[in-house]
Amino acid sequence: MCGIVCYSGKNAAKDVILEGLERLEYRGYDSAGLSVIEKGKLFTAKRSGKLSNLKLALLDHPLEANIGIGHIRWATHGAPTDLNAHPHLSNDKNIALVHNGIIENFHELKEKLIKEGYHFTSSTDTEVIAVLLEKYYEGDLLEAVKKVRKILKGSYALGIIAQSEPDRLVCVRCESPLVMGLAGGDVLVASDIPSILKYTNKLIYLENGDLLDVKDGYQIYDIDDNKVDREIKEVSWSLEAASKEGFDHFMEKEIFEQPRAIEDCLRNKLVDGKIDLGDASFTKEELRNFNKVYIVACGTASYAGNIGKYAIEKFAQIPVVNELASEFRYNNHFIDEKTLLILVSQSGETADTLAALREGKRKKATTLVVTNVLASSIDREADKSVYCLAGPEIAVASTKAYTTQVMSLYILALDFALKLKKITEKEVEEILKEVSKLPGKIQEILDNTDPIKEFANEIKDASSVFYIGRGLDYYSVIEGALKLKEVSYIHSEALAAGELKHGTLALIEEGSPVIAVATQENIMDKTFSNIEEVRARGAKVFTICGENAEKLENVSYKSYKLPQTIDSLYPILAVIPEQLLAYYTSGAKGLDVDKPRNLAKSVTVE
Ligand code: F6R
Repeated sequence: MCGIVCYSGKNAAKDVILEGLERLEYRGYDSAGLSVIEKGKLFTAKRSGKLSNLKLALLDHPLEANIGIGHIRWATHGAPTDLNAHPHLSNDKNIALVHNGIIENFHELKEKLIKEGYHFTSSTDTEVIAVLLEKYYEGDLLEAVKKVRKILKGSYALGIIAQSEPDRLVCVRCESPLVMGLAGGDVLVASDIPSILKYTNKLIYLENGDLLDVKDGYQIYDIDDNKVDREIKEVSWSLEAASKEGFDHFMEKEIFEQPRAIEDCLRNKLVDGKIDLGDASFTKEELRNFNKVYIVACGTASYAGNIGKYAIEKFAQIPVVNELASEFRYNNHFIDEKTLLILVSQSGETADTLAALREGKRKKATTLVVTNVLASSIDREADKSVYCLAGPEIAVASTKAYTTQVMSLYILALDFALKLKKITEKEVEEILKEVSKLPGKIQEILDNTDPIKEFANEIKDASSVFYIGRGLDYYSVIEGALKLKEVSYIHSEALAAGELKHGTLALIEEGSPVIAVATQENIMDKTFSNIEEVRARGAKVFTICGENAEKLENVSYKSYKLPQTIDSLYPILAVIPEQLLAYYTSGAKGLDVDKPRNLAKSVTVE
């Protein structure tokens, strides 16, 4: 996610803002900028790359300014360039603003504004807001913001200043977080608490829809523009705790961010409830031309690819090969100009995945990447890109990137299916209705962690943990087993439940912990028999199942019921207890869950 720091007070705005931005650097970003009003004049500087580039650009500018807005950007629309960095200015250079979030209707707004004679210098969604503010500005920034926010669709936190009103700072919060700090008469507003803590621990958490007007004091307005008072809270967080927003670890924070991550992921793929992948979509003719589809990735991204394969095969009825990038790069015998090569990579920098992409391109395949990092190497080199929009993932073990990769692949599969007329609009509508309920259902799981914590305590000293499942559930357990081994160092293995009798059942002994995932109606009875099989050999079975699975619960040592969804979407829910189990087991063993031994977040060597 991007970061916002705004200031109005007695101190030098430049210093407060730069310091505030520094405190957000740990999350990763690709450009930085600030605007201040100095002696009645708006001054803006922005640079791609590190904050140090911006500081260098500001060396010759002492900037005697007491009001300003700053931003570090993590690109979602447009490459990380100086021009795309925030703040963005209105055409008349009177208004400057910083923005976190995504404006869903920016395409149509931009087209309309261009027709009206306005121009744009960046490829961001944000610039549309600056231009709209100019259009509605009649000498009162607050009034202009009140009008413009009614036009915007999406999520946004904004910090805005105007040269014509040099003592005023206006901020808005719609979905994206914004917190205000009160330091004597000074006001800081930031997307994240660490940016404020040096100056004050007196905070006001702006509520969704709040509008803040800072001028001779401050006034907050609610979503209906009524004046409201918000409670001032004193926090006792250390800087480190604040970076993790009160969670103990980044992995925990990222697991708990998944309802929002899924919502964001869908934001740039659905327009008015219909799939619209913009530049990433293929025409019907292009899709018909492909006679082979490969999904290629590493580790967790490859496990998301398993589900992508399922979704494309089920909905679009195209056979798909899912292959590990490290194998594919030396083993790609059938690639040609009729091949679609889909790469999946959170970082967009994984060496094997990048090499697979280049190999595919060399053989004339069409390439598409599903990635979380815009302008990463794979993003730049692939023909088309679908962005996960999970926000920066810091913990080494991937969690929110995985679920948003799976979500992105589902939407891609449905888009293919619609274009190829393998599914009706009505059927897609029904599926998307269920998709829209997933964030709430993930939240239900996150609100019910006690049974998972208990089981984590029971398995923490196990030498091996086995995971079993069939079909889509097998794909879920592959990811679950990887999560556990990565962060708890317990040997864990995913076994296709139907394969047990062919050899792996020999591993099960008295007390062996087995995690069974059983969500798929058509194979429920089969999985039931497999649970019976391992139970008969003394296994302690912890079953993750759908809501109507009493039969499974009866044969399990313990069970965890997932909220109801359609079978094809269960992997997005089933993985959440698995992630939590891995996280709590690591914690119970006192391990460094965010930085597991021998592992790195981005594997840029072969
Ligand atoms: C596991 C994990 C890794 C990555 C893999 C690919 O939790 O994070 O298995 O999924 O290294 O990384 P990306 O997606 O960055 O290409």
